Amino acid sequence: MNRRKFLVSSLTSSAMCALRSRLVLALDEQAALREKLMRDPLRPQFHLLPPANWMNDPCAPRFFSGRYHMFFQYNPGAAVWGDIHWAHAVSPDLIHWKHLPVALSPTPGSYDAYGCFTGSVLPGVDVPSILYTGVTKCSPQEETIRGEGVREVQCLATSTDPELGRWTKLPKPVLEAPPPGLKITGFRDPCPWKDGDTWYMGVGSGFNKVGGAVLLYTSRDGRNWTYLHPLAQGKWNEGTKVNPVDTGEMWECPDFFPLADKHVLLYSTERKVYWEVGTFDKRDLRFHTETRGLLDHGSYYAMKSMVDEKGRRILWGWVQETRSPEECKVAGWAGAMALPRVLSLGPDNTLRMDVPPEFASFRTGTQKSIKDRAGEVICKFKVGQSACGLELRSGTTLLFAIQYGGASSVTIGGKTIPLSSGRDGLASLRLFIDGSIIETFVNSREVMTARCYAPAPAGIQVAWTGAVDALSTLELSGIAPISKDRLTV
Ligand code: FRU
Repeated sequence: MNRRKFLVSSLTSSAMCALRSRLVLALDEQAALREKLMRDPLRPQFHLLPPANWMNDPCAPRFFSGRYHMFFQYNPGAAVWGDIHWAHAVSPDLIHWKHLPVALSPTPGSYDAYGCFTGSVLPGVDVPSILYTGVTKCSPQEETIRGEGVREVQCLATSTDPELGRWTKLPKPVLEAPPPGLKITGFRDPCPWKDGDTWYMGVGSGFNKVGGAVLLYTSRDGRNWTYLHPLAQGKWNEGTKVNPVDTGEMWECPDFFPLADKHVLLYSTERKVYWEVGTFDKRDLRFHTETRGLLDHGSYYAMKSMVDEKGRRILWGWVQETRSPEECKVAGWAGAMALPRVLSLGPDNTLRMDVPPEFASFRTGTQKSIKDRAGEVICKFKVGQSACGLELRSGTTLLFAIQYGGASSVTIGGKTIPLSSGRDGLASLRLFIDGSIIETFVNSREVMTARCYAPAPAGIQVAWTGAVDALSTLELSGIAPISKDRLTV
């Protein structure tokens, strides 16, 4: 062996050794992370979430070939936001999920190199297609988000894979830039629909110092789009924060669909989620709002809807963490998908929502307390003069409280929420407790998604407080985990 060959071979073997030990370390770390996640009592057991790391918005949910497909914003490398891919899961019934490989990844050097942001199904086409926002780093002149140095474009990908796992991106975005001449504050999260042989698409955006908006486009083929005008527009809150989403100058994740004889517009801004019910006038192609409200009063954001195989309008949303990024890194995971909500319209044209009725079959039976932080509480009480409430405790630790002061509001987890009674004079509370998530449905009208990270080693006891005669019913049941190991696979 000559000197060169010796050097090359020794280098190679020492490099191999280093690589092997790095690999072993990575595998060890992965196994340790899995072990930690499996034992983490704060990890939900019947909500969808990735096996580890960060997730945010639901993307392009659909029923296809007998199964539900859910995609969502996902960072494969850490439990904080960044390097955004589309994760993919399938379900036969909207609750039991199986993870599939990542469906969409940023392409280095391309229009989505910095991230594959939120998107939707492009309906009414022969080959399954999605529209999503591609993001790249850019010069200040090209940026579409104030001060961020990034450019957002709308992109189309198609799939001939029966599993919807492999997607082919078009060589160029379908929308390379926002409409010229407009001083927009962001340009992302397309939501298309089809009416007859015409496609429409709303894009989340807004105008500097004016307010958030949905930009409306139209197309004859789903690929070539023409800008029309704002479909709807909101108001700037006159704040001066750099991020236009915080000042109401930008609306994220719009969703727009017919419901009963009305149209519904959903959007996320100022860290809140809104619904508006109104009419979509086919003459002026604008949305005219009649009623509006908050879609959720807690840690819920960036929702997206779909129609299920029964024809119901189902809403999904991202349950955000309320702990710090440092705590999320330590935990090894962040974010979950909220339970699906069936949307309907009340007689007063307000939005109503509840989990699908078939979810009752996931109950494991009546319990005296909630075990393993997974269960459901149903409570009905008389709306009137008496102060009363519900407390969730573990031993002496108060985990969560609902307080009713005898008027037309109720305080849930510290948030004051409007309350009205039904014809029977009762108000209904339905709580889903899962790890650190507590979703409370009030009269199927208002929802409050809360996070509770306090330890509950003694299980969760549920107690009625205040006026005893105000309580009509209080039922507790367990809910079956969707996987044995809290990894929801
Ligand atoms: C909302 C959002 C979207 C964007 C995505 C990026 O949570 O900011 O507007 O497309 O997240 O992950």
